[in-house]
Order: sequence, then C-alpha cells, then structure tokens
Amino acid sequence: MAHYYKEPSRTFSEFLLLPNLTTKDCIPANVDLKTPIVKFQKDEKPAIELNVPFASAVMQAVSDQHMAIALAQCGGISFIYGSQTVADQVEMVRKVKEYKAGFVVSRSNLTPNHTLRDVLALNERNGHSTVAVTDDGTPKGKLLGIVTSRDYRTSRDSLDKPVSEFMTPYSSLIYGTLGTTLSEANDLIWEHKLNCVPIVDGDQNLVYLVFRKDYDRHKENPLELLDNNKSYIVGAGINTKDYKERVPALVEAGVDILVIDSSDGFSEWQRETVQYVKANFNVKIGAGNVADKEGFMYLVESGADFVKVGIGGGSICITREQKGIGRGQASALIEIAEARDAYFEETGTYVPICSDGGIVHDYHITMALAMGANFVMMGRYFARFDESPTKKLKIGNNYVKEYWAEGSNRARNWERYDLGGKQGLLFEEGVDSYVPYAGGLRENLDKTTSKIKSTMCNCGAKTIRGLQSEARITLVSSTSLVEGGAHDVILKDGSMSAE
Ligand code: IMP
Repeated sequence: MAHYYKEPSRTFSEFLLLPNLTTKDCIPANVDLKTPIVKFQKDEKPAIELNVPFASAVMQAVSDQHMAIALAQCGGISFIYGSQTVADQVEMVRKVKEYKAGFVVSRSNLTPNHTLRDVLALNERNGHSTVAVTDDGTPKGKLLGIVTSRDYRTSRDSLDKPVSEFMTPYSSLIYGTLGTTLSEANDLIWEHKLNCVPIVDGDQNLVYLVFRKDYDRHKENPLELLDNNKSYIVGAGINTKDYKERVPALVEAGVDILVIDSSDGFSEWQRETVQYVKANFNVKIGAGNVADKEGFMYLVESGADFVKVGIGGGSICITREQKGIGRGQASALIEIAEARDAYFEETGTYVPICSDGGIVHDYHITMALAMGANFVMMGRYFARFDESPTKKLKIGNNYVKEYWAEGSNRARNWERYDLGGKQGLLFEEGVDSYVPYAGGLRENLDKTTSKIKSTMCNCGAKTIRGLQSEARITLVSSTSLVEGGAHDVILKDGSMSAE
C-alpha cells in the first residue's frame, strides 16, 4: 500500500517568525551573512563560503558570465547554465575566471595608420575616450601608443591626420608589466595623474588596461567572492548524460563548483555522476533536487558536497501540475534540515543545503534560512535585473524582462527533464514568461540584504547559524496551492497567473 503523509506540505507564506529579545549590539551593521556552501568536518573551515546567501539559478534566462561577475562582486555565486554546448559554457566560465577586477581587455583599438576620423568614429561607437594603438589594431597586439581626447583638437586637426602623428607613443607612456597588482597600477595612476594605465607583457604586447574609475569601483566591493588567485568564484550546471565530456572541460576552464541540474535528483544517474566527479577531479559538486530526507541522504551518501532542495515551487515551474510530483518548499526544507543536522551530529560532517525556487518576497529568504537553508537559489529574482542575459521590453507602460523555464520548449533542455529515454521532451515542465524589470542587481541586493539583516535582529540573531538555532516559527494558514502553479509572472499568452 502506498505511504501517506499525515501532514499537508506547506510553503513559506504559511509561516511567520516571532521576534526574540534584541540586545543592543544586535543591529544590522553587526549581522554577518557568511554561509558555507560545501561540506566540511566539525571544527574545520568550509572550502567555499558565500558572503551573502544567494545563488543565481542554473538557467538560460538568468546565469551567464555577466550575472556571475556581478553577483560574485556582491558576495554571492552564479551557476552558469548547462543547457548549451560544452564549448559555449566553458567560454562563459573562462570569461568569469579571466575577469580581473579592475583589469579590462581593451575594447577600442586602432593601428597607427588609422586617422583622427577613425578615432572619433570609434569613440562614438563604443563610448570610450581611450584608444589603444597596437601594430595590428587588436586588443592583444604590440602596444605602440595611446590616444585620449587630450591628444587632439577637432577644431584644428585634420580628420585625415594619421594616429601615429598625435598618439602618445609607447616611449612616453607610463605602463605596468604583467604581475603588476591593482593597487600598484592605481599608485601609477595617482602619481602621474592619469586616467588609464596599460599593462604589457615582456614583448610589449598589450594585455590589459586599468582605469581610475574601475579601481574606485573595485573598492566598492568589500564582499566580493574571490578564489586564491583573486579571480571570481563561479559555479556551473551539469547533467547526468554528457558529464564525461562536460566536466573535464569545465574543470580545465577553472570552474570552482558544479551542480547537477535536475528537477528530480533522487536517481542512480546522479549517484554515478557524483562518484565519477569525485573519483576524477578535485572540484566540488552539489546534487539535487530532492524534497525529502530519503533523497537527501541518498545524495549525501553518494558524496555530494551540497544538496539542492525543491521540487515544483519555481515561479515558472509547472512540474506539479504536469506530473503531480513535488512538495511544499517549507515542508521539504524543514525535514531535510533536520536530517542534515542529525547527520552532522552523528558523523561530524556538515552538508549544506540550498533552498531552490519559490522565493517571491524577500522575507521568504529569511524564512528559508531560519528553516535551515544555508543559501537560496533564485531565478525570477535575478531575471528582473539589468545583468540577466534576456531582453528588456516595454509592454504598455511597463518594462519587463523575459524569463523562461529550463523545462520549457524555448530552453529545450532535453537532458534535464528526460530521464534517460529516447523520446525527448514530449511535454513542458515550465512556462515562458515576463517578469517586471527591476534595475541593477546591486541596488536590489542591498535592499534585500538589509531587510534580511533587520529581520534577523528582530529574531535576536547576528549570524545565519544563530538564526537557525534561535528562530521561533509559527504556522499561519494554508496557501501552498498557489505555489504549485505558475505564479507571480505574466504569461506570454496575455493572461495573469495567480498572485
Ligand atoms: P524561481 O526562483 O521561483 O523562479 O525558481 C527558479 C528555479 O526553478 C530554478 O532554480 C529551478 O530549480 C527551477 N526550474 C527552472 N526551470 C524549471 C522548469 O522548467 N520546471 C520546473 N522547475 C524549473
């Protein structure tokens, strides 16, 4: 006979937090949101910790290299989507790893034989006033000079004047060599009153430019998430089919952490994939998604470094409607957090859990953390920002951004939803939608974190760990049905989904 659960499964909106005593030192400025994302032993430091508990979803409409850099600058992590060719995904990972905060590859380049007319046209096109002059006009060519607006006067100079006649030649340039640190480059900028310093290799080839404004920006990122080489930390999604081809290429490109991306992770394919990665590479790997302790323990015993929790709660997800599988996100999380803590107690090994999908209000994040999540993964939240890869459109008087599910026909992510058969995707597990445009990531993240910190202070907690042990949570009502359908998005067929 089938097993029946006596309790209905519940979602975040059915709970509220009760305030605890707030001591005078418990103010938002003293709250630390650092959190582990990979497993560690008692009394050891986790190999990777986030500075804010946010991951952007493994989705075409959410996590490319731009999102990954922007989110790492704020202290979180992106998992670059795997529903693309290995080569394309590797390229995105490489771009994140090669991005040196403050060091940029020159985007405006000409040769000495170009003319002032070309310089002006390039400035107009790129919006930059600094042009690197290289022997072949490429960003990595031999550096022969630099042109800035101080080098010419459009009122006097002929537009046909060759660049070689008015550029500041290499012999007069202040430049840094490979290995120059950002703060050394900044010293050169200040000492010589420059706006930009080129960095060259031993053969005089241009490698990077460092701009004064970028250095200032870098200083604005006290929480940025860096590896030991000062590159941004980045994750990538993989599947259980082409992993023997995909994983070696991603590791080669420098990926820090992998996650198996699936709507149902309680499978032998996931075990095999985790074991393959663990046996062959020194890279962290998360697995999922699961919705109960059995699934969680199976993946923990398979060797997963973290486990992703959540089936059917995503805003664009229709898995529950299509297949009748899933569980209210809060119930799944509460049960799995309990299993994680018991496993830690028993073995001394702590396996972080990620609450994935279904975050609609900022307080849902605090609720997920209080219920035991170490970090949350969000798609809809990040899709709304400038940094997401999708188009911004104007519909009526409102700006929106496109947001489509990985299990929609649009994403055609066959591997993720096809559990091994040859039939491919015969039905969709997600919708294609719009989300309201919300501006830049940083401003929004700042608002969200300040709300979380403020609530944590209400609960008397200065750390996520403290919140998890001290939180008092009360059930309010049952609205979990809403979470089961597409919700909080405007469907492309013009109808409104449930609020
Ligand atoms: P959101 O933050 O509520 O928008 O949920 C994002 C999450 O939805 C992702 O991290 C995935 O786990 C999940 N997801 C993405 N595409 C699909 C789909 O096609 N069907 C079901 N779940 C999906």
